[in-house]
Formats: sequence, structure tokens, C-alpha cells
Amino acid sequence: MTQTAIPETLADSAAPDLRDASWDQIRELFMLTPNSIHLNTGTIGAMPYEVLDTMDQVTRAWTGGLMDVYPPGMYTEHRANIARSYGVDQDEIVITHNATEGVARIINGLDLHEGDEVVTTTHECYSVLSNFNLVRNRHGITVKTITLPSGYDVRAEEIVELFEQAIGPRTKVLAFAGVTLFTGTMMPIRALCELAQRHGLITVIDGALLPGMLDCDMRALGADFISCSGSKFQCGPLGTGLLYVRNKVVPEYNPLPLPTLWPIISTWYPMQGSPPPRSHTAIESDNIGDYLQSAGSASIARGAGLAKACEIFDRIGRKRIERRAIELADHGRRLIAEHFGEQAMYSPGADTRLRSPLVAFHPFRDKRDAWNVKKVHEFVMRMEQEHRIWIRWTEFDVPGSPHQHYAARFTAHLFNNHEEVERAVATMVRLAEEMS
Ligand SMILES: Cc1ncc(COP(=O)(O)O)c(C=O)c1O
Repeated sequence: MTQTAIPETLADSAAPDLRDASWDQIRELFMLTPNSIHLNTGTIGAMPYEVLDTMDQVTRAWTGGLMDVYPPGMYTEHRANIARSYGVDQDEIVITHNATEGVARIINGLDLHEGDEVVTTTHECYSVLSNFNLVRNRHGITVKTITLPSGYDVRAEEIVELFEQAIGPRTKVLAFAGVTLFTGTMMPIRALCELAQRHGLITVIDGALLPGMLDCDMRALGADFISCSGSKFQCGPLGTGLLYVRNKVVPEYNPLPLPTLWPIISTWYPMQGSPPPRSHTAIESDNIGDYLQSAGSASIARGAGLAKACEIFDRIGRKRIERRAIELADHGRRLIAEHFGEQAMYSPGADTRLRSPLVAFHPFRDKRDAWNVKKVHEFVMRMEQEHRIWIRWTEFDVPGSPHQHYAARFTAHLFNNHEEVERAVATMVRLAEEMS
């Protein structure tokens, strides 16, 4: 019986260019809960209606049909399109189920052995730290964590220097978030990748928050691996992610040889022998993306939804989106600093290179409340339940502190506007005053 390949694209080729659309018009594209303010894209974004429609159409197209859910190459068209949006090629991009899955497959697929060391930070997501700890327990590697500085005046050079000091003779891997989730620090990614390259190290970036936030050329960043979430700033369906795996050597960006990677979970890995040797040049020798993408039946509708979300962002213009999200967050950052003081900020502010659309701060008058998880939690819950404003709280190590700190964090994205940011800050000011 012949099976029909699943149509990847149900796209209308006449999809409107949104480059000239106003932010009010763009906001209308997103499914936002009425009478509420969504300032938590750092946790999950809002989906455009078109993404929902795509998922529905694709689900209906294959449900109960004679479609081939195990095609020889998976998501080839989506991967090619998405790769283009991020300055890379189809063989370097994998559609995963989330950032955690992608990073777990990389960390467990690296060729690490007893005595090898990984340098990372205490500000990583548990998805990164738990996987490195698993490899530590399983293979006897060492995981060295540094605690990032936090606060308004942190500078990029401080961060790079901390990493440099931590690198030792057994270090094999440098792992860090592109943007940290606890303090919203935009890490100096390129500088850290250059540092890693000078020491011959593999770079693993937790890029959960990067796609849809930054107009980024993944190859130019110079990393080996970037694992991303599809449902946060990229506004794709929950349960989607993107994984970039460097698959060619472009000396301008990263002259190091491609690191060995065992493609964990693969139905494409050969039954006999091994895949061809990896490329030493700018021309791929083998499609590593296919090994990782072919991993049993896939969430086809969700993959299509993610591709649609990427396409919509391309139509709006990624640079434009990046500027908008940062500008809205900066507006909130200024207001927060005005009302709560710069000393209340955990997110960087003075060094513009480190600013992201995520802003974390301490809302209460008494500094010791930074250790009071109950109070910070109550603050966030009351914002949501009494005011329908959705932010979140975070917890993280602070150098010299005997206990983790807890912060309130808001995140701005393209579908927010100035009025929402102002209303949210004014509400936080009033609530903090009442609770202080
Ligand atoms: C920096 C960072 N890494 C990883 C994750 C986990 O993302 P996912 O749910 O896509 O696995 C998050 C989630 O908020 C995050 O902010």
C-alpha cells in the first residue's frame, strides 16, 4: 500500500507581509485572555490564532488517514524554513519537544568521561543542571558551578572573567543560558563562545528564551549546541522546541573541530557501522539533524504550528520584534527603578549589552524579605488573582548570601504595550506598599 506523505505546508502563499502593521494590529493576531495582562512570556508566550488553525488543520489532515508518519526525512521543509530564519541550514536544526529535551539529548550525547569537567552556573535551569548531574553520577565528570553576579550595575566583562577564572586543565565544556531565567541577564554569548574557543572547549547554550526574542544568527554566535523552547518568545505550541547543532566548520565563527556527539534517541542511526566522519569544512558531510529528528513518530501538528509561528515572526520582522520587546521591558525597568530604586533590581540595567525583556527585582521595603519565599509568592499570586496581571517569581543564588533570593519578574513581548507595562508597574507599586 502506498502511503501519502504528510503535507508539511498548508500555507497560503498570499500570507500578508506584516512589516508595516502597527503594534495594535499585531496584538490582534495573538490569542490573549481578555481583561488580563500577560507579562510572563519568559514562562510561556501567547499563540497567534493562525498557529492554532494550522495545528487543527494538520491534525485533521492526518487523523485516520493513510499518511506516512515515518517519512525518511522528518520535517525537512519546516526545518529548512526555520533554519533560514536563524541564519543556519536544515541539517543543523531539529524540531524537538522543548528546550529540556534538546539539552538532555546533547548533554547525554557528549563524549564525556571520568575526570572531565563542565563549567556552568548556578543560574541555569534545572533542565541543564539535572542532566549534567546525571552525567556526573553516571560517568564521574565534575560539574563546576559559578554564581553569576546580579544587580543593576553588572557588566559583561565581569561575567566573562568569572568563566575564564573557572576554566581549568580538565575543563571540556562551557554551558550557560543565552538569557538567564532568574535575573533575565542577556549573557555575553559571543564573548563566552570566543573564550571557549580559545580554550578548545565545547559550548552548550540553553537558548530556551532566545528564539522569537532575538533576531539571531545562530552560526555567528559560534556555539556548538543551542537548545531552545518553541513556546516562549517564539509563541509556538506548548511542547515544541528547536535544537541547533553545529554541523560544519566555518572558521570565522568557530574554527574548532566539530565535537563528537552520540545522537541519543534516533531511529536513523545506522544498524551497522557508524555514520560518516564529521565534516572539517564548511560543507556538511552528513545530516546530523536527520539523526536527531528521526526519533519515532512525531507531534506533526505541533511541529507545523511551530513552523507557522516562525513564519509569522519572519513576516513581522525579527529585528523589529527584538527592539519592541526590549523597548517595552526598558520602559518597565525605568519605572521599576524610579519607584523601587536601582538597588532593588536583580536584572542588569547599566550595561545595555546585558538587558533582556525579562526584569527581576525585589518589591519590598525590607531587604530581608528577599529571603521570604512566602511573601514573594503571595505578591505574585495577588497580582494574578486580584489584578489579573501575570508575572512570576524566581529563586537564585546571590554571591555572599547565606540563602537563595526570591524575586518578582516580569517579561515583555511584542503583544504587550506601554499602557499595560505602566498599569502593571503601578499595581506592583501599590501592592508592594500594602504588603511591605
Ligand atoms: C532559561 C530556561 N531554560 C530552560 C527552560 C525549560 O524550557 P522548556 O519548557 O522548553 O523545556 C526554561 C523554562 O522557563 C528557561 O527559562
